[in-house]
Amino acid sequence: MGKVAFITGILGQDGAYLAEFLLGKGYEVHGLVRWDSGLCSYEYYSRLYSLDLIDRITLHEGDMIDANSLNHIIKNIQPDEIYNLAALSHVKVSFETPSSALQINTVGTLNVLESIRILGLEDKVKLYQASSSEMFGSAPMPQNENTAMQPCSPYGVAKLAAYHLACVYRRSYGIFISNGILFNHESPLRGGDFVTHKVTRGVAEISKGRCDPIRLGNLDSVRDWGAAQDYVRGMWMILQHSEADDFVLATGRSRSVRDFVSASFKVIGRQIEWKYEGINEKGIDSQTGEVLVVVDPEFFRPIELEYLLGDPTKAKDILSWSAQISFDQLVQDMVMADIELLSIEKNNAVGRSYAQ
Ligand code: GDD
Repeated sequence: MGKVAFITGILGQDGAYLAEFLLGKGYEVHGLVRWDSGLCSYEYYSRLYSLDLIDRITLHEGDMIDANSLNHIIKNIQPDEIYNLAALSHVKVSFETPSSALQINTVGTLNVLESIRILGLEDKVKLYQASSSEMFGSAPMPQNENTAMQPCSPYGVAKLAAYHLACVYRRSYGIFISNGILFNHESPLRGGDFVTHKVTRGVAEISKGRCDPIRLGNLDSVRDWGAAQDYVRGMWMILQHSEADDFVLATGRSRSVRDFVSASFKVIGRQIEWKYEGINEKGIDSQTGEVLVVVDPEFFRPIELEYLLGDPTKAKDILSWSAQISFDQLVQDMVMADIELLSIEKNNAVGRSYAQ
């Protein structure tokens, strides 16, 4: 019999790819979904449909901040491995709804930890805690497992508190709990309000005739961007290690938002020239002079975390994990997937208008 895995946050990018990965390893996969008025809609499950997972997994309705619901679900499933991915994951949103960030990301994690204890599963369950490079905040780079953390956002603080809780429960109760400290990881399934997908969607639309420019916040921001498919494999490898431990997963290379934009336009054969400075900076097509990117202060954050660069040496040495998908491949995959999606959306719209 295969192992049983429970994934909180299964509807997100990482949850969907992880479910696919674990099914490929013979796992029985269960996932947590929160009640929402869109619960019956296709959109709510779109990532699971797009990877053809919906009939191969079991979904359970519950809530990270409702401890009773988690206890019931975990008691019924009796999982071997729990992957705690559920989060309010948008950093800028966490400035607008800081209490929710703390409730979902910290208290939610605490509820999972307590469930394991209340149900007496300390010796049975292994827990993967989705920690984040955002916890490093303004710490000097490159950042690794020994770097002192200085979070710069309510999201970072909430994730850091959850990270410490995970460590405390590991030490206090001997539960197999490992933190994966993941740097930014992207894919065609990335939410549209994260910068990478916002850019690749914009580039795809421009390739199909959109006239208005892409509006972005801080172009100087630098991130260590990898591909989500590599990182979910890393999550699994972290839990297969002989002992519970914490690991940074990163590519070890970082680029600015500006670099990501230029690389994305290159996929559709357009070269960007950057002109002017500060909020007047513009990304201009070097051949046609068309303004393709502008800065919009609406997308600035109260504090900006400028520079993240991960050092994945420990994961490489101990787990033999490394990122396989290159930056250029990632950008290419995301732009091409968005171009394809736009064609499908257009065809569906034509189909609908004929049907009416
Ligand atoms: N979202 C967004 N939208 N970000 C922008 C924009 C914009 O229009 N313009 C510039 N940026 C900058 C942000 O200010 C940030 O510095 C950078 O692009 C990346 O932003 P996001 O893609 O929103 O990701 P993030 O780094 O804040 O957080 C992601 O990575 C973390 C790992 O470090 C999220 O996935 C977190 O959940 C994750 O923990």
